[in-house]
Amino acid sequence: GRVAVVMGGNSAEREVSLNSGKGVLEALRSAGVDAHAIDGIPALLDAVRAGHFARVFNILHGAGGENGELQGALQSLGVPYTGSGVLGSALSLDKVRAKQVWIALGLPTPKFKALPRGADVHAAAREIGFPLIVKPAWEGSSVGITRVFKESDLDAAVDLARRYPGDLLMETLIEGDAQEGGEFTVGIVGREVLPTIKIVPAGEYYDYNAKYISDETQYLCPGLSGAAEDEMRALALKAFDAVDCFGWGRVDVMRDRHGKNWLLEVNTAPGMTSHSLVPKAAAAAGLDYPGLCWRVLETSME
Ligand code: DAL
Ligand code: MG
Repeated sequence: GRVAVVMGGNSAEREVSLNSGKGVLEALRSAGVDAHAIDGIPALLDAVRAGHFARVFNILHGAGGENGELQGALQSLGVPYTGSGVLGSALSLDKVRAKQVWIALGLPTPKFKALPRGADVHAAAREIGFPLIVKPAWEGSSVGITRVFKESDLDAAVDLARRYPGDLLMETLIEGDAQEGGEFTVGIVGREVLPTIKIVPAGEYYDYNAKYISDETQYLCPGLSGAAEDEMRALALKAFDAVDCFGWGRVDVMRDRHGKNWLLEVNTAPGMTSHSLVPKAAAAAGLDYPGLCWRVLETSME
C-alpha cells in the first residue's frame, strides 16, 4: 500500500524535519515503495481518514510528531506507523519525565532540577553547582540550550530557554577531557543497537550549527572499544526500554573524564539528514541509507 512520509510540521525543528523527510522519501522510492510526502499532522490525518495511506513513516521532529499526539491519533484510526507508541514518545519528548523514570530504575542521568515558570533559578543553580546546562524540557536539536559557567550568565540562559513551551531543565554539565569522555550517541533499529558514535565538534559544543551546518564536526564510529563500547550500548538499550520505546530511536549519552556514562535523552524520530547520526552509525554497521529507511519502515509491520 501507499506510505505517507510525514515531515515538517510546526515545531522549532521544522526545517530539520523537512531535510530528514526529503532523504527518507527519496530512499523509500528508490527501494520501490509507493511513498508520498505529507507536511504536518492535520494534512496527514485528513489523508489517512480519506483512505489514501496504509502506513505512516513518521519523520516529524519535536512536539506533535515526537510527543505521542500523532501516535495516539494514528492508533485510533488503526493505521500502523514507525517508531514508539504514545507512552514512549510522550516520556521521551519530556526530558524531565524520562530522567525521573531512569532515576527510579537506578540508571545514571546528570543531577537536575525541573523549573516551572516563577521558580527561583538562582537557588536551583546553587544547588546543582556550576558548570550547568539550561534546556527547554521539550525541544530538540539543541534549540534553546545554553551552557552556564558562572551565575552572572544564568538569567540570559533562562530567558532563552523560556521562549519555548514546557518547563525548564537545569542539569549538571558533564564534560570529557582530551583523553576520556565527551558526547556520544547510540542508534537503535528494531532490537539492533548500532555502534556508538563519539561526536567531536570543531567549536566548543555540538550545537545547532555543528549539527546541521558545519562540515567540521568529527564523528568517530565506533566511539569506544572493547568492554566500554559494549557497556554504553547496553545502557542505551536499557534506557530505551525503560521509557517504553520501540521500533527505532537514538539515545544521547555523555561520558565523563572518569569514563562514567550519563543518560541525557531519547529521540524517538531521530534526524535523518545528510549530517545526521543514525545514518552514520548504520553505515558503520553495514546498513546503507536506503537499507536503514527500509528497516525503520519494517518496524511498523512488527
Ligand atoms: N532532534 C533531532 C532531529 C535529533 O535528535 O536528531
Ligand atoms: Mg532530542
